[in-house]
Amino acid sequence: GVGLGAVAGAGAAFSLLTEAGKSKASAATNTATLTVPDLLEGTTSDSTTTFTLEAQTGTAEVISGVTSDTMGYNQSFLGPTMKWTSGDTVLLNITNSLGEDTTVHFHGAHVPAKMDGGPQVAFADGETWSPTFTVKDDAKTLWYHPHALGTTAKQAVHGLAGMIIVEDDSTASSDLPSTYGTDDIPLIFQSLAADSAGDLKYNLTGYLTSGLEFPLLLNGTNVDDTTLTFTATKTRTRFRVLNASPSDIITIQRSDGGNLNQIATDQGYLTAATEVTSIRLVAGARAEFVLDLSDAVTLQAVVTTGWVRGGSGTYDVLAITASGTDTPDDLPSSLNTIDRYDTSDFTARTITLGQSGTSMTINGSVGTSMSAMAMISTTLGSKEIWTIKNSTQLEHSFHLHDVPYQLISINGSDPTGVDLGWFDTYEVVGGGSIEIAMEFTDFSDDTYMYMLHCHLLQHEDEGMMASLMITDS
Ligand code: C2O
Ligand code: CU
Repeated sequence: GVGLGAVAGAGAAFSLLTEAGKSKASAATNTATLTVPDLLEGTTSDSTTTFTLEAQTGTAEVISGVTSDTMGYNQSFLGPTMKWTSGDTVLLNITNSLGEDTTVHFHGAHVPAKMDGGPQVAFADGETWSPTFTVKDDAKTLWYHPHALGTTAKQAVHGLAGMIIVEDDSTASSDLPSTYGTDDIPLIFQSLAADSAGDLKYNLTGYLTSGLEFPLLLNGTNVDDTTLTFTATKTRTRFRVLNASPSDIITIQRSDGGNLNQIATDQGYLTAATEVTSIRLVAGARAEFVLDLSDAVTLQAVVTTGWVRGGSGTYDVLAITASGTDTPDDLPSSLNTIDRYDTSDFTARTITLGQSGTSMTINGSVGTSMSAMAMISTTLGSKEIWTIKNSTQLEHSFHLHDVPYQLISINGSDPTGVDLGWFDTYEVVGGGSIEIAMEFTDFSDDTYMYMLHCHLLQHEDEGMMASLMITDS
């Protein structure tokens, strides 16, 4: 009963998919306690907070009973959560012990291009990269992951990913739950592909007939047949969801069909908490929601194929016990002010996500090297409206480094509800298009560029990436 619609329209090399993948009904057989990634302690002196990370190799059980070779930051798989405070200066000392080049990109952060961890600042095995910058973002959930040319998918599917929480002193932030691991809980999903020996797959052209597994992980634990448990101690608890999958879409919902109270999208707070029945996140996207846990709640993840996984599955991923008896204050009625752009005098561009044989393109160029990829040039202060057009029948997404964007239209319709928030990664369905608007507020640089790309990592590695140069005038 699992369709293969995801490969319709793909080039010949992609049509080898015969593995139907797993389709899972929701009743898992085992339980285990939810693991919360460690918080990385920084050291503060002279008003700079320093964090130390090491990208390293290791092993982990990605499929039950099988040991996989993996990569992680400061550990074997995934990495610790960093907290940055808006307005502070951070310095990161990141050592590469992977045995190959890497970069560390701060996905969603508004930092100078040279500090942003794109392909131009790759560093070799044995080297330490030390970016430093002022945190200009306000409260939001970001993440960090590798971004070297051609190896992003490989390194990410082996486990290189971690969450960044930016805190600020806004009223919303002080009114919302924020005790990490107690009432502020990260949920990092990875829908992966591996063979039965546990080899994690990232370049899925050519061996799709070999009977792959498609494990789903939550905070590094396989939840294919396991529901994780979390014992709530606060009635109001905040969850930060990151879809760190290489390509699949993760939709979060409650098993009882009840609402989630969404408070933030990729790039920070919505204007007000918004009741939704589900939250759909393309690979790379984040969202935050709060739950009232005076009764127990089970969260489900629906995994929808983005690239090679056949079909979808619904998983009972997290069973949350009812809390004690504390009665939280009402949620703040206003969380944020979002001035919607009037785009009438914005500069217009079209960005086309395309395909050429087995390569992926942006505006016709195969972005597998800095010199081959399309370059968008703009100037400081420019306000722009971009039409992102998916000229293929494949699922894609659109991620822009440096600045957040507003959605102006989604497949011809006006955005509503949570789509009125700020984004940096959004779905562009096969044959569809979105219009986005943004403003390039600072950080001109004629040497280092930001990137824009599909966040399906294999597509990015196969060329669906372009660069953005912001000059003074
Ligand atoms: Cu999350 Cu350019 O990447
Ligand atoms: Cu894509």
